[in-house]
Amino acid sequence: MSPDHADIPAADVSSAEPKYDATPIDPDSVTDEVRTRASLSFEAVKGDPEVRELISSANRNLGVLGFTEHGFRHVGLVANIANNVMARLHYDERHQELSQIAGYMHDVGNVISRHGHASTGALLSHTILTRMGMNSEDVIVVMSAIGSHGDDSGRLGEPVHSVAAALILADKSDVHRSRVRITDPADFDEHDQMNYATTSSFLRVDHETATVTLELQIDTSMASVMKYFELFLPRMQMCRRAANLLDQTFRITINDVVVL
Ligand SMILES: [Fe+2]
Ligand SMILES: [Fe+2]
Repeated sequence: MSPDHADIPAADVSSAEPKYDATPIDPDSVTDEVRTRASLSFEAVKGDPEVRELISSANRNLGVLGFTEHGFRHVGLVANIANNVMARLHYDERHQELSQIAGYMHDVGNVISRHGHASTGALLSHTILTRMGMNSEDVIVVMSAIGSHGDDSGRLGEPVHSVAAALILADKSDVHRSRVRITDPADFDEHDQMNYATTSSFLRVDHETATVTLELQIDTSMASVMKYFELFLPRMQMCRRAANLLDQTFRITINDVVVL
């Protein structure tokens, strides 16, 4: 079944010279020539000095506060996974590229404060993407995805469209040993311990069965499966809602056993 491409604001086709064709199309029949495109490339965003500085500084600040890695590794991975979610569900290149850009920029608000970083990141992205020449329709898609990805404000992030859903799935599934910055296990907090115990994390998107599965390998000598749910229940709820918005069922396997 083809996804409904009308769930993010359509590009402005009323002007005399539209930048791209936003007409909903059959994703199975498109060619490179007729694909809709974002008005700014991911590569341009990735190479922007201000974006890079923000990511680097946000990661530094979170390190001071004792948070796990949120730098180029995390945002690069989230960008790739969000892009893959859109691609595997047959969304067009505009969806793919906007989700990639949102993934890369989603944590820049941490440079201001951990609290409310989704909202501040959304506003920062507006300024930067507008400066770089992205059109307003695309800026709004990226802004609203970043603004709804969840932060420490006590409320769960809630997807508002398909690009936001792809971002949430990508971001919340990044639990991995390589995110832990502390080198001495004696100093680990619960999140460090859980991340360190996770030796493999893979988000499998199966269009045929309409299923998104988070496949985890956990060293249970370091952290229990129960602990995973205890710590990450809010993340799992966000992932379930995000998958549902994309008409997918969310599943989790831990050490090859279906647990959700
Ligand atoms: Fe975040
Ligand atoms: Fe993140």
